Amino acid sequence: MTSSENHFISLAGSDFLWMKIPVTYLPARQLYQEWASTYDDRSNPLIEAESKVLAAIIGDVAGKKVLDLGCGTGRHAVLLAKAGAHVTGVDFSEEMLVVARSNAAGLDVAFLNAELGAVPLEDPFDLVLCSLVLSHVPDLRPAMKEMARLTRPGGKIIITDLRTDYWFKKTKKIRKFGTYVTDGFKHTLSDYRAAVATCGLKQERLTRIYFDNAIVARFWWFFYLKFVAVGYAWEFSKPSA
Ligand SMILES: C[S@@+](CC[C@H](N)C(=O)[O-])C[C@H]1O[C@@H](n2cnc3c(N)ncnc32)[C@H](O)[C@@H]1O
Repeated sequence: MTSSENHFISLAGSDFLWMKIPVTYLPARQLYQEWASTYDDRSNPLIEAESKVLAAIIGDVAGKKVLDLGCGTGRHAVLLAKAGAHVTGVDFSEEMLVVARSNAAGLDVAFLNAELGAVPLEDPFDLVLCSLVLSHVPDLRPAMKEMARLTRPGGKIIITDLRTDYWFKKTKKIRKFGTYVTDGFKHTLSDYRAAVATCGLKQERLTRIYFDNAIVARFWWFFYLKFVAVGYAWEFSKPSA
């Protein structure tokens, strides 16, 4: 379902500054279908800040089997493979996967078109990564269950996302991506804990993502995100049997 109409769009990521402008609404899968060919073109401060945090917490992945769920154009898959990991990237957008396959040409990455909550794989991974994806799903549980199933005992899960518990006043919010808008869903820390508890995972570290000086120098209108976290990086473990 596509609709082009006036939506209130928040400015500079805030819930305080709004402008009513005509934008096209697309469900998430279609949004990424339209956006795929230009997704890598524009620099995105959230992606930049998240990359820095992830690089600091991910550890040595050489020789490890890594699953990148909602891999998009392969941003992390490519870096992980270059660091020596054997990577599988999963996404429900074939168009994003086309770009990912091209970005990862010659590297040890296999790609698969599937839904987060129903991944047709059996063999577990040492590390499962789900980066900037979960605010697209209304319910965390199916995705968390799949992450738990696909992680080996003793393995690790890392989830990064926008800090929707703080930034979204409502459960469901219309969010701007590129030139389109789609639905975004609020997930509180309690929602995560409840989802994690149902699939036997243990919560480890929670790192808040801020914009640093280098980012704020280029995206000055986001200066307040130096002080208020824009996102989270969560680490979970699957207890050894
Ligand atoms: C913001 S992009 C992030 C891509 C990549 N993880 C990164 O950080 O660069 C979100 C990705 O999640 C994918 N996605 C969203 N919902 C999904 C779902 N239910 N199942 C599989 N993929 C999904 C989209 O197609 C898109 O490629």
